Amino acid sequence: MSDQKELEKELAAKEAVKSVKQSQIVGLGTGSTAKYVIIELGKMVKDGLKIQCIPTSTKTAELATSYNIPLIDINTVNHIDVTIDGADEFTKEKMLIKGGGGALLREKIVASLTKEEIIIADASKKVDKLGKFTLPIEVIPFALNYVQHQIVSLQGKGKLRMNNNKPFLTDQQNYIIDSDFGLIDNPRVLAEKLNQIEGLVAHGLFIGLAARVIMGVGDSVQVFN
Ligand code: A5P
Repeated sequence: MSDQKELEKELAAKEAVKSVKQSQIVGLGTGSTAKYVIIELGKMVKDGLKIQCIPTSTKTAELATSYNIPLIDINTVNHIDVTIDGADEFTKEKMLIKGGGGALLREKIVASLTKEEIIIADASKKVDKLGKFTLPIEVIPFALNYVQHQIVSLQGKGKLRMNNNKPFLTDQQNYIIDSDFGLIDNPRVLAEKLNQIEGLVAHGLFIGLAARVIMGVGDSVQVFN
């Protein structure tokens, strides 16, 4: 990973945490960009910020705990004030592909409960059309073969994500099919078709969920509202 990309991620994270206010419930994203948010929030908590956070993965929960960031159970809240998360691709219309790190299901649930979902990214994540990054699709293991056939019927090519010669397992013990649909002309239509497949528990198309994308570019940030 180039130093430039890391700098852009960090700049975007530093800009995003300015939206976090005293006493808020905050969703914590997953991945190498969201990590910078946890580091910044760790400093702010140390300096007296009182927040309660909801992690989107066990990895994020562990990282947040290591920075003494207080965590709460998602099932104890009716809303989340602000969530800051990364993305694998985004467009200027704030449509996203997420799930490269495998946390898409919890990320989508957290985003759906969130009043202000802020996405942070380095400049390499911005695309004109989604789809160069293969779309992560989470399935229950029982449905693997069925969902793979459904992906083919939607003109996609799915590949089971592997980890050390075994299927990669999500935090929910599900599988991920990384799916190539080529460049996606209409992400909303594809999302709706995927939503109807039984056994498919989440896909990485996030449409209408991001309130803002903050992109680090060079030594500054660009905001897409
Ligand atoms: C995790 O499942 C993903 O949705 C991440 O938010 C996304 O993959 C971005 O990760 P990086 O910040 O590591 O690129």
